[in-house]
This record gives sequence, C-alpha cells and structure tokens, in this order.
Amino acid sequence: MNRPPRGPRPIRISPQAHPRLRVGGVDLVTRPMTLDDAQGVRDMHERCSPESLRLRYFGPLPRLSEAVMRLFTDPGRGITLVTHPEGEPGRVVAMTNLMDLEPGVAEVALLVEDDWQGRGLGHVLMRYALALAPSRRARVITASVYASNSRMLSILKGAGAEQPSMTGLILDVRLPLSSSATEAAPCGG
Ligand SMILES: CC(C)(COP(=O)(O)OP(=O)(O)OC[C@H]1O[C@@H](n2cnc3c(N)ncnc32)[C@H](O)[C@@H]1OP(=O)(O)O)[C@@H](O)C(=O)NCCC(=O)NCCS
Repeated sequence: MNRPPRGPRPIRISPQAHPRLRVGGVDLVTRPMTLDDAQGVRDMHERCSPESLRLRYFGPLPRLSEAVMRLFTDPGRGITLVTHPEGEPGRVVAMTNLMDLEPGVAEVALLVEDDWQGRGLGHVLMRYALALAPSRRARVITASVYASNSRMLSILKGAGAEQPSMTGLILDVRLPLSSSATEAAPCGG
C-alpha cells in the first residue's frame, strides 16, 4: 500500500474546487462522494480497526447498504466527502460526513483510515466540512463524540467548538459557525 511516512502536517498544494493536499509525499484529493464511490468507501471501512469504527459509529460497523450509500450521497440530506490519492479514486482513505440534523444545524463526523491517522488529515477535513456548512444553511455544527476521543475533541476545539456543558460517555459538541475559522467553500459545495 501507498503508505506515507510519519511526518509534518499536510501541505495544501492547490485551492481548486477539489482541494489537493500532500501528506507524506502522497497527493490526496478530497471531493464529494458519488454512488460510484460506494465500493471504495466499503473497502476503506474494512481496512479500519474495530476501535476506529467504534469511535465513529458508537458500536460495531453498521451495514453499509445501498440505502446508506444513497443517504451519504443525497444532496437533500447532506454532503459526504471522500479523500483518496490522486489518480486512485477507488482507494478511499477518509470519509467526512456533514449531514443535516434540523434547520440551521448540521452534524459532522470524520473517519480517517488507521494508516492515515495522525498526519493532520482530521484537522484539514474538519476545515473543509466547516467551509461547506453555509451550503447546508447551517449556523451550528454539532458532533457526537466519545468523551475519551481526545483526537476528535482536539480537532473540534481547534475549530472553535464550545466546551461541552454536559459530561458523560458521549458528548454532544456544538460549534457555532460565527466563531469558527472557515475558508472559501472547497469541494464544489
Ligand atoms: C479522530 C480522527 C478523525 C482524527 O483524524 P487524524 O487525521 O488522525 O487527526 P490529526 O492527525 O489531524 O490529529 C488530530 C489530533 O490528534 C492527535 N493525534 C493523532 N494521532 C495521534 C496518536 N496516535 N496519538 C496521540 N494523539 C494523536 C494529533 O496530535 C492532533 O492533536 P492536536 O490537535 O493537539 O494537534 C481519526 O483519528 C479517526 O478517524 N478516528 C476514528 C473515528 C473517529 O474517532 N471519528 C470521530 C467521531 S465523529
């Protein structure tokens, strides 16, 4: 596999509609998911550790049925981004969901394949999700996160999230968009 070495944070190499990043010498493209990506998304989930899937789905991996894929790609329900090495659209290494929750509120969730974790992708993908929030008419982004998930909590805090008011196993984190650093909408959003 084309696994990058541990190294510095991703370098943004082009601000096009589908942003490109260089991570450990590999150029990654992030773009909206289509139904053609369903197999790549399923394969990526199969390469993820049970722990990563538990942190993302709060239990075992749900069945990634056609209905789930249609939900992920339904522009009336939200937006899903896939990230893959340039020229290898079938090799999805990360998935970012920004799904409508209620008027003005969208929920963000990230899944970075284990081999690609710890290289700064999570921070960058959160920025992309925030930049797309206005296209969902969202003023607030929320995320459900295990209280023990320090990586995701650090990403949310870095993006401007409020300190969660409740304690518990799972935290509902709120991120009012006015206080977050968004950039021009990438990914064709
Ligand atoms: C949470 C997740 C999206 C973060 O993505 P990532 O690409 O690994 O994150 P980054 O490399 O941007 O690092 C985020 C933070 O975690 C820290 N981190 C990353 N890997 C780490 C490791 N192995 N050990 C300790 N800290 C680590 C980074 O130092 C960074 O901290 P900082 O904000 O203080 O700089 C990814 O780990 C993942 O998909 N986890 C499983 C699913 C999940 O938890 N989803 C979130 C629920 S919605």
